[in-house]
Amino acid sequence: MEKCLAPSILAADFGNLKMQIEAADEAGAGYIHFDVMDGLYVPSISFGLPVLKSIRGITDKLFDVHLMIVDPERYIKDFAEAGADIITVHAEACKHLDATIDLIKECGAMAGVALNPATPIEEITHVLDKVDMVLIMTVNPGFGGQKLIPYTLKKVSDLSKLCEEKGLKLDIEVDGGINTDTIDAALEAGANVIVAGSAVFKGDIRANVEALLEKMK
Ligand code: DX5
Ligand code: ZN
Repeated sequence: MEKCLAPSILAADFGNLKMQIEAADEAGAGYIHFDVMDGLYVPSISFGLPVLKSIRGITDKLFDVHLMIVDPERYIKDFAEAGADIITVHAEACKHLDATIDLIKECGAMAGVALNPATPIEEITHVLDKVDMVLIMTVNPGFGGQKLIPYTLKKVSDLSKLCEEKGLKLDIEVDGGINTDTIDAALEAGANVIVAGSAVFKGDIRANVEALLEKMK
């Protein structure tokens, strides 16, 4: 699967969001990762539909919307209409995961399913053939700037093997604590969509993106 860097704008300076997205875009970001937090599924509240609508026009890159919200089916249609290209829901947050995946596709978006560190990949075995992407959380969701939890990469390699066995072509995304020190291990485990927040937006955005892309070559 093609490798892609997905900067998470959660770590951006919101006062300069447009400039910062443009910098990441021009430096070679593949997707823009958009973290929606509701203060219930995770402790933090981040941003939502109005922000997505405002920034959607800044770039043609795909918007990779990561919903850290309870009962995400309530908002799938709205996020698709606001310009989300990929909508990822947490398996743990859905009452009816299968139906929610169907809904994402009916709304014309690509469907992703996310797993928290402690959730086994077996949880989603039966829906693997209907999703476009699996997001293996490499930290507990809720905050940027955390340290990668090493055992989560074993889940990435197990999932990668499982997909190969089943002949499934899907993207494997990692999110949390990815930087120039940890990216190699994530790629080696089989991840091809790499989310990075702090490692992109803290400091020189262009140089940061280039350093991560260099590792992805
Ligand atoms: C965590 C979010 C991540 C976060 C990653 O709950 O889903 O996307 O922004 O931030 P870093 O790369 O700083 O760990
Ligand atoms: Zn995320």
